[in-house]
Amino acid sequence: MNSIEKNKLPKHIAVILDGNGRWAQLRNLPRSEGHRKGGENLKRFIDDILELQIPYISLYAFSTENWKRPKTEIHSLWKLMLEFFAKYLEECIEKKICIKISGDITKLPKSNQEIINEAINKTKKNKHLYVNFCINYGSQQEIINAINQILEIKINQFQQTGQIKKINKKEFEKYLYTYPLPPVDLLIRPGGEYRISNFLLWQCAYAELYFTKTLWPDFSKEDLYNALEWYSKRERRFGGLLSIK
Ligand code: FPP
Repeated sequence: MNSIEKNKLPKHIAVILDGNGRWAQLRNLPRSEGHRKGGENLKRFIDDILELQIPYISLYAFSTENWKRPKTEIHSLWKLMLEFFAKYLEECIEKKICIKISGDITKLPKSNQEIINEAINKTKKNKHLYVNFCINYGSQQEIINAINQILEIKINQFQQTGQIKKINKKEFEKYLYTYPLPPVDLLIRPGGEYRISNFLLWQCAYAELYFTKTLWPDFSKEDLYNALEWYSKRERRFGGLLSIK
């Protein structure tokens, strides 16, 4: 595996953890086995990210649309998440990982909410790596939620002052679930689909998009390095012009 110049690494990587179900079906296993294998791979992936000293990752673990899945699959996901946090929380604390959640977790089973809140509290001072789990997350919902919070503040402001002060991009971002994380530099989607699926639409405005057919449970360190090597060669212009060499 080639080493990549540190200054060419992304600061924030977002991953759509896709392909667990197909990984299991290809092996005649229940879909829940694919999720279990996907969870194990997640742990390995986080260790690779720590080694690379990349400071932020966002992981799409359950979308607002995933509620359409069979109840048995949803329950197996909650069980898996519970086990994941129970098993790795101590290690996260030791490795100075800060666990952040984006999404509305109040719809999750109580035990999941409890362990997630415990993980947030016990790791909130850590700064080595921010792991942002996007759970019951949808980008459109996130933006509507931000607008509604701002509306409430503005109505109050109007009632008190008779005026409404307009907001800018920086202020708007404070109301997104992902605040204070920086924008996404690299979005990785394993699993062979070429879409963003309502994931971090605002935050990915200038992200480089990397798609691979590899299914998430098979996504290896080598796959990560391939994505990073591809990213290191991208010329990021943010709407400006090509740099003249
Ligand atoms: C999408 O694959 C994957 C999910 C909906 C769940 C992702 C969850 C994990 C990797 C488990 C670990 C999560 C935590 C927070 C510990 P899919 O089932 O849609 O795959 P398919 O497209 O092949 O059917």
